[in-house]
Amino acid sequence: MEYITINGGRRLQGSVDISGAKNAAVAIVPAAIAAKGICTIENLPAIKDVRVLVGALKNLGIDCEFTDTHTLKIDSHNIKSCAITYDQVKDMRASYYLLGALLGRFKQAQVPLPGGCNFGLRPIDLHIKGFEALGAKINIEHGMVIAEAEKLTGANIYLDISSVGATINIMIAAVYAEGVTHIENAAKEPHVVDTANFLNKLGAKIKGAGTDIIRITGVESLHGGEYSIIPDQIEAGTYMIAAAATGGDVTVNHIIPKHMDSLSAKLTEMGCQVIEDGDSIRVIGTEHLQACNVKTMFYPGFPTDLHPQMSALLSVAHGTSLLTETVFEHRFQYVKELLRLGANMKVEGRVAIIEGKSSLSGTQVTASDLRAGAALIVAGLAADGTTAIGNVKYLDRGYERFEEKLTALGANINRIQVDD
Ligand code: EPZ
Repeated sequence: MEYITINGGRRLQGSVDISGAKNAAVAIVPAAIAAKGICTIENLPAIKDVRVLVGALKNLGIDCEFTDTHTLKIDSHNIKSCAITYDQVKDMRASYYLLGALLGRFKQAQVPLPGGCNFGLRPIDLHIKGFEALGAKINIEHGMVIAEAEKLTGANIYLDISSVGATINIMIAAVYAEGVTHIENAAKEPHVVDTANFLNKLGAKIKGAGTDIIRITGVESLHGGEYSIIPDQIEAGTYMIAAAATGGDVTVNHIIPKHMDSLSAKLTEMGCQVIEDGDSIRVIGTEHLQACNVKTMFYPGFPTDLHPQMSALLSVAHGTSLLTETVFEHRFQYVKELLRLGANMKVEGRVAIIEGKSSLSGTQVTASDLRAGAALIVAGLAADGTTAIGNVKYLDRGYERFEEKLTALGANINRIQVDD
C-alpha cells in the first residue's frame, strides 16, 4: 500500500510550473482519432489518465508514440477496431470521449459505460441524447454503450444541464455530421474551448466555443496537425490554495490567469495578495485568513473541482464560511477525513458550514477521489504534525509529480510503501 506522508506547518515558498490540463488532455487525445492525418499533441500532463487513454488507443490499433514526456504523436490510419473493453478503461471516467470520436469518424463505437465515482452517479444521458439527435442508434447492454449510424446529420441540441462532457462529446461527433449542429446551453469551461480550438486546427468548423451556443458545420475530413494543450486550471488552483493554507508565498507559472479569476477573487477576499504577471500568478498568504462564502458553479463560476481543496483552506480561516456545491450531489465525501484532521465543519444538504480553526492536527486519512485527495494534501501541509494519506492512486490520475513539485516549494512530503 502506498501512502503520502506530510510533516505539516511549513510555509510553501518559491515557484511551480503547472502542467497541461488533465480535462483537456482526456478530451483531445481521443478527439485526435477523428483526424485522417498524424496529430502531435504537446504539453500533455504525465498522469495516469493520459497513460490509460493511450493504452486504449493502442488496443484499437492506433499508432501512439510519446516523442517526449509531454508530447504524443497519434496516427489512426491503421485503426483495427472501434470497440473498447472495460478492462482497458475501468480506471478512468472520461473514456466516454472515445464514443464521440469513433462515432463521428467511423459511424460506430463500442465503449464501456463509465463507472460512477465517489461523488455522484455521473450519468451520460445527455451525451446519448446528443448522439441520437445526430442520427445515431444507441444501445446499452452488458455495461457497454454501442453506437452506430448510417450517417450523422446536423441538429439543434439543447442540454438540460451545461455538461462539460456532453458538450465536448457531441461537438467531436458533430464535426462529421452533414449540415449544421447547434449545441445550446453548452458548457463554457476552458477545456471545451481548447478541444474546439484543437479540432479547428485540424480543419473543423466550430464557432462559439466558450459561449452558450456552439455551432458546428460538418466537414468531410480532418487533416492532422500539431497542438499544445492549455495549462491545468485545477492543478494551478490547488497550488494557489496550498500557498494560502500555509501562509506561504508561491508563484504558479505557465498558466492562463483569466482561468483562475474566481479563485483569485476568493483568495483576495480572504486577505491574500494575488498578483498576476503575464502567465503567472503569485499568491502571498496571510496569518489572518478571513472566512468567506463559496458557491461552485459552471465556468466562469467557482469550479467544483476546487471545492474540496477550498474546504481545507476555509478550515484554517478565521470565522464561519459556507461552501455550497451546486454541480455534484455527493461531493462531500472528503469531509469525514478533514474532520479526522481536526476540522470543525458539518454538511447540511449541499452546504458545508465550516468553523475555521487556528490549526489542524495531522493523522492518518484516506483519499476517496482525486480532488478529495488534493484537499487532504492541502490540509496536511497546514496541519501540525504528520499526516499520512492513503489511496494515493487517485492523486496519480490528475497531478503530475505532486510530491516533487511540493518538495521544491519547501514541503516535507514523502511517498512510502507499507506492506499490506
Ligand atoms: C467534467 O466531468 C470533469 N471531468 C470533472 O472533473 C468536473 O468536475 C466536471 O466536468 C464539472 O466541471 C473531465 O473533464 C474528464 P459534467 P463531467 O458532465 O463532464 C450531470 C476532475 O476531478 N450530468 O459537466 O462528467 C452530472 O451528474 C473531474 O478533474 C448529467 O446529468 O461533468 C453533474 O451533476 C471530477 N447527464 C453535472 O451534469 C450527463 O449526461 C455536471 O457534470 C452528463 C452530466
